[in-house]
Amino acid sequence: MGIQFDSKNKIFHLQAKDTSYIMEIVRDGYLVHNYWGRKINQYRHSNRLQLLDRGFSGNPYQHKEDRTFSLDTLPQEYPQYGNTDFRKPAYQIQLENGSTVTDLRYHSHTIIKGKIPLEGLPATYVESDDEAETLEITMEDSLIGLKVILSYTVFEQFNVITRTVRFLNEGAQSLKLLSALSVCVDFRDADFDFLHLHGAHVKERHIERTPLRHGIQSVESTRGASSHQHNPFIALLRKGTTEDSGEVYAFNFVYSGNFLAQAEVDQFSNTRVTMGINPFDFSWKLESGEIFQTPEVVMVYSSEGLGEMSRTFHELYRTRLARGTYRDQERPILVNNWEATYFDFNAEKILEIAKAGSELGIELFVLDDGWFGKRDDDKLSLGDWFVDCKKLPEGLDDLALKVKDMGVEFGLWFEPEMISVDSDLYREHPDWCLHVPGRSRSESRNQLILDFSREDVCHEIIKQVSDILASVPISYVKWDMNRHMTEIGSTSMPADRQRETAHRYMLGLYKVMETITTSFPHVLFESCSGGGGRFDPGILYYMPQTWTSDNTDAVSRLKIQYGTSMVYPIVSMGSHVSAVPNHQVHRSTSMEMRGDVAMSGNLGYELDLTKLSDEEKEIVKKQVADYKEIRSLIQFGDFYRLQSPFEGNETAWLFSNKDKSEAKVFYFRALAEPAAPLTVLRLKGVDLGKQYQVAGTDQVYGGDELTYVGLSIPVEIKGDFQSYVWHLKEI
Ligand code: DGJ
Repeated sequence: MGIQFDSKNKIFHLQAKDTSYIMEIVRDGYLVHNYWGRKINQYRHSNRLQLLDRGFSGNPYQHKEDRTFSLDTLPQEYPQYGNTDFRKPAYQIQLENGSTVTDLRYHSHTIIKGKIPLEGLPATYVESDDEAETLEITMEDSLIGLKVILSYTVFEQFNVITRTVRFLNEGAQSLKLLSALSVCVDFRDADFDFLHLHGAHVKERHIERTPLRHGIQSVESTRGASSHQHNPFIALLRKGTTEDSGEVYAFNFVYSGNFLAQAEVDQFSNTRVTMGINPFDFSWKLESGEIFQTPEVVMVYSSEGLGEMSRTFHELYRTRLARGTYRDQERPILVNNWEATYFDFNAEKILEIAKAGSELGIELFVLDDGWFGKRDDDKLSLGDWFVDCKKLPEGLDDLALKVKDMGVEFGLWFEPEMISVDSDLYREHPDWCLHVPGRSRSESRNQLILDFSREDVCHEIIKQVSDILASVPISYVKWDMNRHMTEIGSTSMPADRQRETAHRYMLGLYKVMETITTSFPHVLFESCSGGGGRFDPGILYYMPQTWTSDNTDAVSRLKIQYGTSMVYPIVSMGSHVSAVPNHQVHRSTSMEMRGDVAMSGNLGYELDLTKLSDEEKEIVKKQVADYKEIRSLIQFGDFYRLQSPFEGNETAWLFSNKDKSEAKVFYFRALAEPAAPLTVLRLKGVDLGKQYQVAGTDQVYGGDELTYVGLSIPVEIKGDFQSYVWHLKEI
């Protein structure tokens, strides 16, 4: 592991676990990308850069006979536009004279142990300096006094390189960043598939894989949130790459707002990947002496397919992105009253559900939307975080204590970033929402968005939320966010900074989250945005789990959870058993299947437990007891995808612990099929040399047999919406 600089040949060689990443300074200071992939010991230019005089690819040097050198054909680390490269640049700056041409050249570099934290932004971290090394390359445009610092961190234990960029205006004039992406990788071919996660509300993170083609393929958000529609994740896969083999180059943006992720295949079939804050509707004024820091991109390389890529993300995010008391702690099994009561509850009803939960072994009760202001529906009271004494006459404190007396912890829902027009806060501060003066304020779910780019707004919300957390025995918070941004503008900023609003909002949000989560370290925070609309690494830095989707239907959840598992750790995925017919898709599935799907994540219940039949109660009691037994395996084990719901009627996955002495296999079949083939499920993630007993039976199989031969899917599984589990223990 480490970072070497060969000063003679001007080559940087970065090594993370089994990965090499190589760059070179050429001519008078251009920084060129040479290689990213499996680790090599020494790089001696076997893929030496070959230059050709290409038609219509201009040459940056004046009066030169050399027509072969063009930025248009050069694989670069942080390319610019305007001086012979016609592909999309990594950044663009407007000067006071209106011009947008800049010219960066290598200036200097430093190599340090460890990783530098990003001020005000979420990022992966190290616990000791031995875990990583960081290279900072300073590029300079000497004409205008601009320094751009490219920062690369390599991890000793992971095939991970993280990147960020810092802009430093050391010149006399002010600069306007029109685009400031966090990463660019110029691959020297285009022999890839493009994989990304798209979706919608109640249908998040569906996997799509298409061959790269000439031109641009991109995913983005302009919604002011990372969004349900596209996750800030893309991967390039070598042709033929599968779950278990082949090369994957993955990019994930540690940010929760507008993003752009794109792959551009140029005229010579090179591929440029860029990722960062979406330049659309963005700009940032950099006065003399000011700095702009881009968010981080995590780049994962896997030579063993998508499965290994996911396990790398999972382990990194579980241990070096998530923080706080709960990072390494088993998470409580909860019951949430949302789908049980919606807004229609009182203290008696809540206590009945909590009581039923305590009898079933549930550990945490979560009071969802509707406990504050006059919130009897979704039209009012956001911003007034005071208890509704009509619904809860004895107050929140009394309710929480009564729940705790049952042996169940108490959790509470907030939507701190929002404001209802019908609220005391809005009546007092009508200018505190994002808006453009004179324009109408579009509502979504009957609400507006508080202007978190303003310090006074952030301060008020920190105060209101903190007052509740400090006065009520709360051990869990669900932090919701239920609309996207429109009329993005802030009264707190001058005209030439209005396009900074969306990013300043994110900086404000991160500050609020940092303050609240660190002030209440005993509270477990779960983020939510109409389900999984902000399931991104930015939020996971503050809140170690996310409500995966508002869709709780077990069949829909197979795809949603499978897709989410591409990047995000299982422990971060909130997944609940809900009532049937399901409230989102009106499908009825068995309690067993709903349990098995929800137990494949961070288990909870979201239905009126008081209405369960005795038989259902027994099933739930057993699910809760079983989950407690396997909880650490599920939440902290290794995850292996066995069969994809995107490819057929069956889904299967497996969890195994680190020493492979235990595994839990889940198999799901959505629909019964006539004349169905008799199938066998081959396992992964078990030790080939170990012997395993199937719990509850006298069957013993070797890990090799389970891997190469597989387990028969029992013919006893009959009908639609079925699931089956095997628990394997080493003997
Ligand atoms: C959207 C969330 O995703 C739901 O779980 C619930 O908390 C509602 N908001 C409450 O308004």
